[in-house]
Amino acid sequence: MKNKIVDIYCFTGTGNTYLAAKKIADTLKADGYAANVKNMTSSEPNKIDLSHTIGIGFTVAFWNTFPAVKDFINNLPNGKGADVFVFTTMGDSSLKAAANFGCILKNKGYNVIGAQGFLMPNNFIAVQKKEKNILKIEKAYKKIELFAKQLIDGNAKPCKTNLFSKICFAIADFITNRWRGKIFQKIVRFGLNKDKCTQCRLCYEICPAKNIQVEYNYPVFSGMKCQLCMRCISYCPTHAIKSFLLRKTYTGLSIEEMKKWNS
Ligand SMILES: Cc1cc2nc3c(=O)[nH]c(=O)nc-3n(C[C@H](O)[C@H](O)[C@H](O)COP(=O)(O)O)c2cc1C
Repeated sequence: MKNKIVDIYCFTGTGNTYLAAKKIADTLKADGYAANVKNMTSSEPNKIDLSHTIGIGFTVAFWNTFPAVKDFINNLPNGKGADVFVFTTMGDSSLKAAANFGCILKNKGYNVIGAQGFLMPNNFIAVQKKEKNILKIEKAYKKIELFAKQLIDGNAKPCKTNLFSKICFAIADFITNRWRGKIFQKIVRFGLNKDKCTQCRLCYEICPAKNIQVEYNYPVFSGMKCQLCMRCISYCPTHAIKSFLLRKTYTGLSIEEMKKWNS
Protein backbone atom coordinates (compact mmCIF):
# COMPACT_ATOMS: atom_id res chain seq x y z
CA MET A 1 0.00 0.00 0.00
CA LYS A 2 1.37 3.38 -1.04
CA ASN A 3 -0.09 5.26 1.89
CA LYS A 4 0.24 4.48 5.60
CA ILE A 5 -3.07 6.16 6.47
CA VAL A 6 -6.11 4.00 5.76
CA ASP A 7 -9.76 5.08 5.99
CA ILE A 8 -12.18 2.16 6.00
CA TYR A 9 -15.79 3.08 5.19
CA CYS A 10 -18.14 0.41 6.41
CA PHE A 11 -21.84 -0.39 6.18
CA THR A 12 -23.00 -3.05 8.59
CA GLY A 13 -26.55 -4.17 9.29
CA THR A 14 -26.10 -6.53 12.21
CA GLY A 15 -22.36 -6.20 12.95
CA ASN A 16 -20.50 -8.71 10.77
CA THR A 17 -19.01 -6.21 8.36
CA TYR A 18 -17.97 -3.99 11.24
CA LEU A 19 -16.16 -6.99 12.79
CA ALA A 20 -14.39 -7.60 9.46
CA ALA A 21 -13.47 -3.91 9.10
CA LYS A 22 -12.10 -3.83 12.65
CA LYS A 23 -10.06 -6.97 12.03
CA ILE A 24 -8.52 -5.38 8.92
CA ALA A 25 -7.83 -2.15 10.83
CA ASP A 26 -6.24 -4.01 13.77
CA THR A 27 -4.01 -6.05 11.42
CA LEU A 28 -2.89 -2.88 9.62
CA LYS A 29 -2.27 -1.07 12.91
CA ALA A 30 -0.09 -3.94 14.12
CA ASP A 31 2.10 -3.26 11.09
CA GLY A 32 2.44 0.47 11.77
CA TYR A 33 -0.46 1.78 9.69
CA ALA A 34 -2.95 4.37 10.91
CA ALA A 35 -6.30 2.74 10.16
CA ASN A 36 -9.72 4.18 11.02
CA VAL A 37 -13.07 2.46 10.60
CA LYS A 38 -15.74 5.00 9.60
CA ASN A 39 -19.50 4.62 9.44
CA MET A 40 -20.51 4.88 5.79
CA THR A 41 -24.01 6.13 6.63
CA SER A 42 -22.66 9.20 8.44
CA SER A 43 -19.84 9.91 5.96
CA GLU A 44 -20.00 12.11 2.92
CA PRO A 45 -18.57 10.30 -0.11
CA ASN A 46 -17.53 13.52 -1.82
CA LYS A 47 -15.39 14.47 1.20
CA ILE A 48 -13.19 11.37 1.37
CA ASP A 49 -9.45 12.05 1.46
CA LEU A 50 -7.95 10.61 -1.70
CA SER A 51 -4.43 11.02 -0.34
CA HIS A 52 -5.25 8.13 2.06
CA THR A 53 -5.77 4.49 1.14
CA ILE A 54 -9.54 3.86 1.05
CA GLY A 55 -11.27 0.69 2.22
CA ILE A 56 -14.93 0.02 1.45
CA GLY A 57 -16.75 -2.78 3.26
CA PHE A 58 -20.43 -3.74 3.20
CA THR A 59 -23.04 -6.45 3.56
CA VAL A 60 -23.98 -8.63 0.61
CA ALA A 61 -27.74 -8.44 0.04
CA PHE A 62 -29.38 -10.39 -2.78
CA TRP A 63 -25.95 -10.97 -4.42
CA ASN A 64 -25.54 -7.21 -4.46
CA THR A 65 -25.91 -4.73 -1.61
CA PHE A 66 -28.19 -2.14 -0.01
CA PRO A 67 -29.20 1.13 -1.75
CA ALA A 68 -27.29 3.21 0.87
CA VAL A 69 -24.03 1.48 -0.10
CA LYS A 70 -24.72 1.88 -3.80
CA ASP A 71 -25.43 5.59 -3.22
CA PHE A 72 -22.15 5.97 -1.33
CA ILE A 73 -20.15 4.27 -4.08
CA ASN A 74 -21.95 6.13 -6.88
CA ASN A 75 -21.32 9.48 -5.20
CA LEU A 76 -17.59 8.94 -4.67
CA PRO A 77 -15.45 11.41 -6.60
CA ASN A 78 -13.15 10.31 -9.40
CA GLY A 79 -10.39 8.35 -7.69
CA LYS A 80 -7.48 9.92 -9.61
CA GLY A 81 -5.55 6.69 -9.09
CA ALA A 82 -6.08 6.47 -5.30
CA ASP A 83 -5.67 3.00 -3.79
CA VAL A 84 -8.92 1.34 -2.76
CA PHE A 85 -9.78 -2.11 -1.44
CA VAL A 86 -13.25 -3.63 -1.26
CA PHE A 87 -14.52 -6.32 1.07
CA THR A 88 -17.92 -7.80 1.72
CA THR A 89 -19.40 -10.17 4.25
CA MET A 90 -21.98 -12.75 3.19
CA GLY A 91 -23.89 -15.66 4.62
CA ASP A 92 -23.51 -18.12 1.75
CA SER A 93 -22.55 -16.74 -1.63
CA SER A 94 -22.05 -13.28 -3.07
CA LEU A 95 -21.39 -14.24 -6.71
CA LYS A 96 -18.28 -12.03 -6.59
CA ALA A 97 -20.09 -8.88 -5.44
CA ALA A 98 -16.82 -7.45 -4.04
CA ALA A 99 -15.06 -7.93 -7.39
CA ASN A 100 -17.98 -6.44 -9.32
CA PHE A 101 -18.02 -3.35 -7.10
CA GLY A 102 -14.23 -3.27 -7.51
CA CYS A 103 -14.81 -2.98 -11.28
CA ILE A 104 -17.19 -0.05 -10.70
CA LEU A 105 -14.50 1.68 -8.64
CA LYS A 106 -11.86 0.94 -11.26
CA ASN A 107 -14.09 2.64 -13.83
CA LYS A 108 -14.30 5.61 -11.46
CA GLY A 109 -10.52 6.03 -11.57
CA TYR A 110 -9.50 4.09 -8.44
CA ASN A 111 -6.57 1.69 -8.25
CA VAL A 112 -8.22 -1.44 -6.85
CA ILE A 113 -5.60 -3.18 -4.71
CA GLY A 114 -7.87 -5.96 -3.46
CA ALA A 115 -11.46 -7.16 -3.54
CA GLN A 116 -12.66 -10.07 -1.45
CA GLY A 117 -15.81 -11.47 0.15
CA PHE A 118 -15.81 -13.27 3.50
CA LEU A 119 -18.25 -15.89 4.76
CA MET A 120 -19.76 -14.77 8.05
CA PRO A 121 -22.89 -15.84 9.95
CA ASN A 122 -26.08 -15.49 7.93
CA ASN A 123 -28.36 -12.79 9.37
CA PHE A 124 -31.30 -13.32 7.02
CA ILE A 125 -33.82 -16.21 7.09
CA ALA A 126 -31.23 -19.05 7.31
CA VAL A 127 -29.79 -17.99 10.68
CA GLN A 128 -27.70 -20.78 12.18
CA LYS A 129 -27.00 -21.86 15.76
CA LYS A 130 -24.69 -19.76 17.96
CA GLU A 131 -21.91 -22.39 18.03
CA LYS A 132 -21.83 -22.57 14.22
CA ASN A 133 -21.73 -18.79 13.99
CA ILE A 134 -18.78 -18.59 16.40
CA LEU A 135 -16.86 -21.11 14.26
CA LYS A 136 -17.74 -19.19 11.09
CA ILE A 137 -16.39 -15.94 12.58
CA GLU A 138 -13.16 -17.66 13.73
CA LYS A 139 -12.61 -19.03 10.21
CA ALA A 140 -13.43 -15.67 8.64
CA TYR A 141 -11.02 -13.83 10.95
CA LYS A 142 -8.11 -15.95 9.67
CA LYS A 143 -9.00 -15.12 6.05
CA ILE A 144 -9.55 -11.44 6.82
CA GLU A 145 -6.18 -11.20 8.57
CA LEU A 146 -4.53 -12.84 5.56
CA PHE A 147 -6.28 -10.38 3.23
CA ALA A 148 -5.01 -7.43 5.31
CA LYS A 149 -1.46 -8.82 5.23
CA GLN A 150 -1.74 -9.31 1.46
CA LEU A 151 -2.86 -5.67 1.14
CA ILE A 152 0.25 -4.62 3.04
CA ASP A 153 2.51 -6.80 0.86
CA GLY A 154 0.74 -5.77 -2.36
CA ASN A 155 -0.33 -9.37 -3.02
CA ALA A 156 -4.09 -9.04 -2.50
CA LYS A 157 -6.15 -10.08 -5.49
CA PRO A 158 -7.36 -7.09 -7.51
CA CYS A 159 -10.89 -7.11 -8.94
CA LYS A 160 -11.47 -10.33 -10.79
CA THR A 161 -14.85 -11.19 -12.11
CA ASN A 162 -16.27 -13.28 -14.94
CA LEU A 163 -19.12 -13.12 -17.43
CA PHE A 164 -21.44 -15.31 -15.33
CA SER A 165 -20.99 -13.20 -12.18
CA LYS A 166 -21.32 -10.00 -14.23
CA ILE A 167 -24.70 -11.14 -15.57
CA CYS A 168 -25.89 -12.22 -12.10
CA PHE A 169 -24.65 -8.91 -10.67
CA ALA A 170 -26.61 -6.94 -13.29
CA ILE A 171 -29.79 -8.91 -12.53
CA ALA A 172 -29.23 -8.50 -8.78
CA ASP A 173 -28.64 -4.79 -9.29
CA PHE A 174 -31.97 -4.57 -11.09
CA ILE A 175 -33.89 -6.34 -8.31
CA THR A 176 -32.22 -4.40 -5.49
CA ASN A 177 -33.03 -0.98 -6.92
CA ARG A 178 -35.25 1.14 -4.73
CA TRP A 179 -38.78 0.45 -5.88
CA ARG A 180 -38.19 -3.27 -6.16
CA GLY A 181 -36.90 -3.14 -2.58
CA LYS A 182 -40.38 -2.01 -1.55
CA ILE A 183 -41.74 -5.31 -2.80
CA PHE A 184 -39.31 -7.19 -0.53
CA GLN A 185 -40.30 -4.95 2.37
CA LYS A 186 -43.92 -5.85 1.75
CA ILE A 187 -42.99 -9.54 1.84
CA VAL A 188 -40.84 -9.24 4.99
CA ARG A 189 -43.30 -6.76 6.66
CA PHE A 190 -42.00 -5.73 10.08
CA GLY A 191 -44.69 -5.57 12.74
CA LEU A 192 -44.76 -4.86 16.46
CA ASN A 193 -45.90 -6.98 19.36
CA LYS A 194 -47.08 -4.18 21.65
CA ASP A 195 -47.26 -6.53 24.65
CA LYS A 196 -43.52 -7.18 24.38
CA CYS A 197 -42.39 -3.66 23.44
CA THR A 198 -40.91 -1.76 26.39
CA GLN A 199 -40.91 1.56 24.49
CA CYS A 200 -37.10 1.72 24.85
CA ARG A 201 -36.71 3.37 21.42
CA LEU A 202 -33.56 1.35 20.63
CA CYS A 203 -34.87 0.40 17.16
CA TYR A 204 -35.57 4.06 16.43
CA GLU A 205 -32.05 5.04 17.60
CA ILE A 206 -30.07 2.43 15.70
CA CYS A 207 -31.93 2.24 12.37
CA PRO A 208 -29.27 3.28 9.82
CA ALA A 209 -31.92 4.45 7.34
CA LYS A 210 -33.93 6.53 9.84
CA ASN A 211 -36.94 4.57 8.69
CA ILE A 212 -38.55 4.18 12.13
CA GLN A 213 -40.79 6.82 13.65
CA VAL A 214 -42.10 6.85 17.20
CA GLU A 215 -45.80 7.46 17.53
CA TYR A 216 -47.49 7.40 20.96
CA ASN A 217 -44.18 5.92 22.28
CA TYR A 218 -44.32 2.90 19.95
CA PRO A 219 -42.15 2.40 16.85
CA VAL A 220 -43.80 2.62 13.45
CA PHE A 221 -42.11 1.03 10.44
CA SER A 222 -42.97 3.08 7.40
CA GLY A 223 -41.06 0.85 5.00
CA MET A 224 -40.27 3.71 2.66
CA LYS A 225 -36.60 4.04 3.61
CA CYS A 226 -36.01 0.53 5.02
CA GLN A 227 -32.91 -1.18 3.62
CA LEU A 228 -33.85 -4.59 5.05
CA CYS A 229 -30.58 -4.60 7.00
CA MET A 230 -32.19 -6.59 9.88
CA ARG A 231 -30.76 -4.35 12.58
CA CYS A 232 -34.04 -3.37 14.31
CA ILE A 233 -35.51 -6.86 14.45
CA SER A 234 -32.19 -8.44 15.49
CA TYR A 235 -31.23 -6.03 18.28
CA CYS A 236 -34.68 -5.56 19.88
CA PRO A 237 -33.98 -6.61 23.50
CA THR A 238 -37.46 -8.07 24.02
CA HIS A 239 -37.98 -9.52 20.50
CA ALA A 240 -41.00 -7.30 20.08
CA ILE A 241 -40.40 -6.73 16.38
CA LYS A 242 -41.76 -9.52 14.23
CA SER A 243 -41.93 -10.70 10.65
CA PHE A 244 -43.64 -13.90 9.59
CA LEU A 245 -40.63 -14.65 7.35
CA LEU A 246 -37.94 -14.28 10.01
CA ARG A 247 -38.10 -16.84 12.76
CA LYS A 248 -34.52 -16.42 14.01
CA THR A 249 -32.32 -13.36 14.23
CA TYR A 250 -28.58 -12.77 14.56
CA THR A 251 -26.44 -10.09 16.21
CA GLY A 252 -22.69 -9.73 15.66
CA LEU A 253 -22.24 -7.03 18.34
CA SER A 254 -23.64 -6.30 21.77
CA ILE A 255 -26.39 -3.68 22.03
CA GLU A 256 -23.89 -1.24 23.58
CA GLU A 257 -21.39 -1.79 20.74
CA MET A 258 -24.11 -1.24 18.16
CA LYS A 259 -25.29 1.96 19.89
CA LYS A 260 -21.70 3.23 19.92
CA TRP A 261 -21.23 2.38 16.23
CA ASN A 262 -24.42 4.21 15.35
CA SER A 263 -23.75 7.31 17.48
C1 LIG B 1 -31.79 -8.66 2.89
C2 LIG B 1 -30.59 -9.56 2.96
C3 LIG B 1 -30.16 -10.23 1.83
C4 LIG B 1 -29.04 -11.07 1.89
N1 LIG B 1 -28.59 -11.65 0.75
C5 LIG B 1 -27.49 -12.43 0.79
C6 LIG B 1 -26.97 -13.01 -0.41
O1 LIG B 1 -27.45 -12.76 -1.51
N2 LIG B 1 -25.91 -13.84 -0.30
C7 LIG B 1 -25.31 -14.11 0.90
O2 LIG B 1 -24.35 -14.87 0.93
N3 LIG B 1 -25.76 -13.55 2.05
C8 LIG B 1 -26.83 -12.72 2.02
N4 LIG B 1 -27.28 -12.12 3.18
C9 LIG B 1 -26.59 -12.41 4.46
C10 LIG B 1 -25.59 -11.31 4.82
O3 LIG B 1 -24.86 -10.91 3.68
C11 LIG B 1 -24.56 -11.77 5.87
O4 LIG B 1 -25.17 -12.33 6.97
C12 LIG B 1 -23.68 -10.59 6.29
O5 LIG B 1 -22.51 -11.06 6.90
C13 LIG B 1 -24.36 -9.63 7.25
O6 LIG B 1 -23.48 -8.55 7.47
P1 LIG B 1 -23.81 -7.35 8.45
O7 LIG B 1 -24.05 -7.94 9.81
O8 LIG B 1 -22.58 -6.50 8.43
O9 LIG B 1 -24.98 -6.64 7.89
C14 LIG B 1 -28.36 -11.27 3.13
C15 LIG B 1 -28.80 -10.57 4.26
C16 LIG B 1 -29.89 -9.71 4.18
C17 LIG B 1 -30.33 -8.98 5.41
